[in-house]
Amino acid sequence: GNSLPSKAPPVFEGLPFIGGIMKFASGPMKLMADGHERFGEVFTVPVLHKNFTFLLGPHVSGHFFKANDDEMSQKEVYEFNVPTFGKGVVFDVDHKVRAEQFKFFAEALKSAKLKLYVPHFVQEAQDYFAKWGDEGEVDFAKTFSELIILTASRTLMGREVRESMFNKVADLFHDLDMGMLPISVIFPYLPIPAHWNRDRARKELASIFSRIIQARRDSNTKEDDILQSFIDSRYEKVYGGRYLNDAEITGMLIATLFAGQHTSSITSAWTGLTMIRDKAAWAAAEEEQRAVVQRRGEELSIDALNDMEVLGRNMTESLRLFPPLIMLLRAAKAPFAVTDSAGKTFVIPKGHVVATSPAFAHRLPHVFRNPDEFDPERFVPPREEDKAAPFSFIGFGGGRHGCMGSNFAILQIKSIWSVLLRNFEFELVDPFPEQDFESMVVGPKPCRVRYRRRKLAI
Ligand code: HEM
Repeated sequence: GNSLPSKAPPVFEGLPFIGGIMKFASGPMKLMADGHERFGEVFTVPVLHKNFTFLLGPHVSGHFFKANDDEMSQKEVYEFNVPTFGKGVVFDVDHKVRAEQFKFFAEALKSAKLKLYVPHFVQEAQDYFAKWGDEGEVDFAKTFSELIILTASRTLMGREVRESMFNKVADLFHDLDMGMLPISVIFPYLPIPAHWNRDRARKELASIFSRIIQARRDSNTKEDDILQSFIDSRYEKVYGGRYLNDAEITGMLIATLFAGQHTSSITSAWTGLTMIRDKAAWAAAEEEQRAVVQRRGEELSIDALNDMEVLGRNMTESLRLFPPLIMLLRAAKAPFAVTDSAGKTFVIPKGHVVATSPAFAHRLPHVFRNPDEFDPERFVPPREEDKAAPFSFIGFGGGRHGCMGSNFAILQIKSIWSVLLRNFEFELVDPFPEQDFESMVVGPKPCRVRYRRRKLAI
């Protein structure tokens, strides 16, 4: 009920045509900071033939997260993933089919299934770190991407891949990954070698998974992995209620891997880096491991992991400071109004690309006190700064399309860091790293860390 006339958001003018793109591609953080300072929480940036409207902070981002897909659509803005995920799935299908496929993701990642995956998270972490020496130097970005592709191959792609073709499949995924460049977002089919390799790898993966799926069907075996969950998935309201075909199963697997691989390995890295830098945070997490072992024994069960609130808060605080997905996008399919905290109402026109930003929103000083400081206690009652307004903490997104793998990721990261806290001590060799804003999923720049194996494990 605002009676004042409302208008389109202020436009960030004066960016030269190419300048706008460059500024966008190379420095979205700077662009948001400048725009926020000049115009506030809502403003529009023209880039090429598109208008990007930013909604920064919990006061204005509600519509972004809550609106249904007819109003705020993912398809147009995430369609560049089609050559990677494959035809017939996710952003290549209409919203009815997509809605059902998203239910299959939810089914594969629900808590009853997570119980099956936890022992694999723990086993993979223990095996991986058993290979480390008594002391040495590592780069966490590399460490955790290796480890997480191992657990992903076990829990997602299944026993067959993990046991007998891990290296081959990991190489193919690497080629897929290298085919996802900033330029691919605008021109996903540009004829360049990175895209040719991507397409070849995609084909090979499809034929590998086809063989595995066929073998499972022929021998009537069921495994405890996400692949199995997709094999057993059946449409309800579309395609005459058939099961997913092999191509769709492969596509769903690849999409899950892309959603979870870099995001989880980067968050594992920051969780470690921030705890190593902050001695009190490390000590509290170490103390918690001792308490959990005393209470529940050594086994890293799902219940033991769920008990680890200190480690959980350290992880959440790392994700607040360093969210790997710095910008989330939708396409406005209908005009909508937002009122900013100064009481000004704007109408965002149909056709705008709408952007919100975990990286920016998480550093707003009226939402998080001393936002640049690592302070896991901010999540403890009575402070609970993340709960003062909906969509304050959006490291996992939120609302209608919030992360479906958040519990999977949290359990995986807690498994890894429990194994490490119990068996090693660390120190930073290089200064605490900056974020690498050049990559699509933003992680730490390289940083050497020194580990020393404990004489006596916790
Ligand atoms: C969506 C973050 C791990 C599966 C999202 C979104 C964010 C996010 C911000 C919302 C995207 C948007 O609104 O446009 C993260 C972070 C992770 C993580 C920070 C790790 C720390 C995972 C894992 C999986 C997963 C491990 C699967 C195994 C998904 C799926 C969606 C999603 C399926 C799409 C939900 C939808 O669009 O309805 N994630 N994610 N994520 N994530 Fe995650």
